[in-house]
Parts: sequence; structure tokens; C-alpha cells
Amino acid sequence: MVSALDRLNYAARQAARVAWYAGHYVAGRRILKPMPKPDFPIGPTPSRAELTADMRALFEQEWRDIEAGLFPMPRPLGADPSEFLRRSLLYFRDLPNVDARRHGELEDALPPGTQADGLPDYYRQNFHHQSDGWLSAHSAAIYDTQVEVLFTGAADVMRRRALKPAAEWIKGRNQRELRALDVGCGTGRLLAFLHDAWPGLRLTGLDLSPPYLAEARRLIGPTARVKLIEGAAEKLPFDDASVDLVVSSFLMHELPPEIRLAALKEMARVLSPDGLVVIVDSIQKGDQPGWDGLLDLFPHYFHEPYYADYVAGRLEDWCAHAGLSPGARERAFLSKVATFARP
Ligand SMILES: C[S@@+](CC[C@H](N)C(=O)[O-])C[C@H]1O[C@@H](n2cnc3c(N)ncnc32)[C@H](O)[C@@H]1O
Repeated sequence: MVSALDRLNYAARQAARVAWYAGHYVAGRRILKPMPKPDFPIGPTPSRAELTADMRALFEQEWRDIEAGLFPMPRPLGADPSEFLRRSLLYFRDLPNVDARRHGELEDALPPGTQADGLPDYYRQNFHHQSDGWLSAHSAAIYDTQVEVLFTGAADVMRRRALKPAAEWIKGRNQRELRALDVGCGTGRLLAFLHDAWPGLRLTGLDLSPPYLAEARRLIGPTARVKLIEGAAEKLPFDDASVDLVVSSFLMHELPPEIRLAALKEMARVLSPDGLVVIVDSIQKGDQPGWDGLLDLFPHYFHEPYYADYVAGRLEDWCAHAGLSPGARERAFLSKVATFARP
């Protein structure tokens, strides 16, 4: 049961997050060069007021689901104030490097990682223009701030939209018997929300980045219920039909088309016969037609080598090709949540 006080608490916390990250955005814009002008035609873009109203509707939707008892009110993750501030400081210190890469003024001598690490070339890039790509403790420490600034505090709530279909699917099942996997878990925020909501679930987070996995462990703490393993989405180290719930947030748009399809086929392979796949990722062209211009601009502003291909296609078509049938879907601000199951 949630009370009126809980509602106030939720609203105050989300408003504080939005204000905090919007403040970062405004401060950042003051010290950075103007964004490079696109030299190609772009689709329509929404007004700031429309975006703000849509984001507010997303928080209201989450609150209704909490009130309905689908999942508990989220607790603030990693809320140690001094660590929080340290990360903001690191974020601002790195901004000039991000900006210099964006304007072609900083060529990194070598791609992130080393030739000996065995990681695929498509992976060893400065995604988002971030220093060290996915491959340093420094990058892992500032990733969450970067993403929240980009989405003005709405990244976590977009990830948490995966909890609604997960809750509906878990209902009536014994969570202690269920195995769940987060593919491309990054710094572990979705895993942490899943673990908080269903502490009995046997969760595994998989990612190619050792520093991001280390960050996820720090966030989640030392529990045997959440395992973290280094591995590739396109070659999941699990037996056929051995995972009941597969989730993945903001991974699909980071993968080259053939790897993306291979990753979806792997999700289908490891999924148990009555299991569920829940994918959260960017909206694609046509999901919200009046916003298509934002999807044109995003890869122009942030290094996103596979994003244009991602937004031009349909997640549902790729999943069908991978052997998965579509279920529920919801647009959640700039992302969408879609579920899939075995036919
Ligand atoms: C945009 S981040 C998303 C992270 C997290 N799921 C989130 O919601 O913030 C993409 C993550 O996918 C990981 N990744 C990229 N390609 C991968 C692959 N082929 N296999 C496994 N992880 C991959 C990266 O290391 C990074 O942590």
C-alpha cells in the first residue's frame, strides 16, 4: 500500500532528479561550443514544452503502476552524496574532451582497449564521444551522469518501464525459481531495480566491459542473487531454453546490424518455452512521427555509429526474423519497451 506521503516523496525525488540533470545540461551548454549544424535534411522535431509534458506523463504512468502494486517505489540508487558530487565533477571535467571529439578536434591516438583484449572492433570505439569508450573505470564512473543529462533525468524511469511487463509476467510464478538475464547490463541500474522489486529472482548481468561490470557490482552490492559475467550478446554463454526472463536496455542501437540480429537470435535460443524477452531502447522512425528529427540529430551530435540503421528499421521485424513473437509494447518518452516470446 502506498500513501499520499509516498506520492509526495516520489514526486519530489523525480522533480529533484530532473532539476539536477537539467542544471547539468544548462551549465554544460555554457561551456561547450554550439552543436554542429546538420548538413542534411532532418525530420520534424518536438517543442521543449511537448517533450516536458511527455516526460511528466511518463512519471505519472510509473506512479500509477506503483500505486497498482505492480512493483515497489524505486529507491534512490547509489545515493551517497559525496560520490554523487564526485561523479558530476568527473563529468564536467571530461566534457571538453567529449566536445573536442564532437567537433573533430580530438583524434584519440588509439581506439579504446588494447589489441590483446580480444574485443570486437565494432565495440572498441568512443561511443557517445565518451573518453575510453566502454573500456575504463573513469568511463564507467561518468556514464550514468552522461545518460541522465542527455535525458534530463528520465533515463532510469525509461529503464524501469521494463518492470511493468516483467511484473505482469512474474505474477503467479515463483520468483525464486526464475532465472533472469540482463544483456548488455552496463553499470547495472536495471538489474538493481529488478533485484529490489523481486529479491528472489536469480539474476545475471552480462556485458563486454569489465569496468562497467565492476561498477554494476559496486551499485548492487555483494549478493549471490545477482551474478555479473563478461560476455558477448551475440554469443551468450547459456544453454538453450535455460533463461526465463531476458531483459536488455539501450543495447540494440549500439550494435551493428548483423551483431544485433545475432544477439536477438541468442536471446531466442536461451529463452525457456514460456519465457519473456523485454527490450527497452530508443524509439524508431515512425514510432512518434513528429519527433523523427530528433532521431536524425542524435547520431550527428553523439558518436553513435549504428543508430541511424537502428532507427530506420523495426525491432519487431528483427525479432520475428530471430524467431520471437511480439507481445505488449509501450512508448516511454524517447524510448520504447517491447516484449517478445517464443511463438
Ligand atoms: C548504452 S549502454 C547500456 C547499458 C545499460 N543496459 C543501460 O541501461 O544503461 C550499452 C552497454 O552494452 C554493452 N555492450 C555493447 N556491445 C555489447 C555486446 N556485443 N555484448 C555485450 N555487451 C555489449 C556496453 O559495454 C555497454 O555497457
